[in-house]
Amino acid sequence: MNLLYINACVRPQSRTDVLADYLISRIKPDKITKLNLATLDLTPLSNADLERREYLISEQIYDDEMFALARTFAAADMIVISAPFWDLSFPSVLKVFIEHVNVNKIVFQYSSAGKIEPLCRAKKLYYVTTKGGYMPDDYGFKYIEALCRNLYGIEDITLIKAEGLDVKGNDVESLLNEAKQKIDALTTL
Ligand SMILES: Cc1cc2nc3c(=O)[nH]c(=O)nc-3n(C[C@H](O)[C@H](O)[C@H](O)COP(=O)(O)O)c2cc1C
Repeated sequence: MNLLYINACVRPQSRTDVLADYLISRIKPDKITKLNLATLDLTPLSNADLERREYLISEQIYDDEMFALARTFAAADMIVISAPFWDLSFPSVLKVFIEHVNVNKIVFQYSSAGKIEPLCRAKKLYYVTTKGGYMPDDYGFKYIEALCRNLYGIEDITLIKAEGLDVKGNDVESLLNEAKQKIDALTTL
């Protein structure tokens, strides 16, 4: 099983990354492709990028380097995203990554009736996050969930989270350990 690990944790000492690493150690995939988004130097799609993308798609040049991330995403058997809770969602580098991934004819396609048909291999996605406080709404996770259901054809989506990590007096280690216990329960060996 080929697992794609999309690491959107910006800080090198990320607690979210600690949980995602633990999850992956429990899943024990045959192969891991790790994308460390903060070091990929991704830029938001420009108009020139969009024009080039349209040209490549119209010429059916899907093996172009521009589509490398989209091909990697579509080919994964399972996906783990780790992203800390930032400003009610996630670090912008993850949105930029999604712009690069969501390529018509690689990740999804439109039927003749205009309906979206997923082209991704993965059937399972884990979204791992940690929060400084306890805000109830997680727009970041909900957005990823909507992408999974509407574009990627991934219905089995699991949220793993630890909250309150920056609240004064909270024991961060024990909050992370609680999250690890939840991971243990979700990934019974
Ligand atoms: C730019 C930024 C924005 C943040 N926004 C929120 C927020 O809206 N709500 C919240 O509870 N915590 C917020 N936090 C705190 C983080 O969610 C928290 O520290 C998290 O555990 C960081 O994960 P990490 O250790 O993997 O970097 C923010 C932190 C940063 C750096």
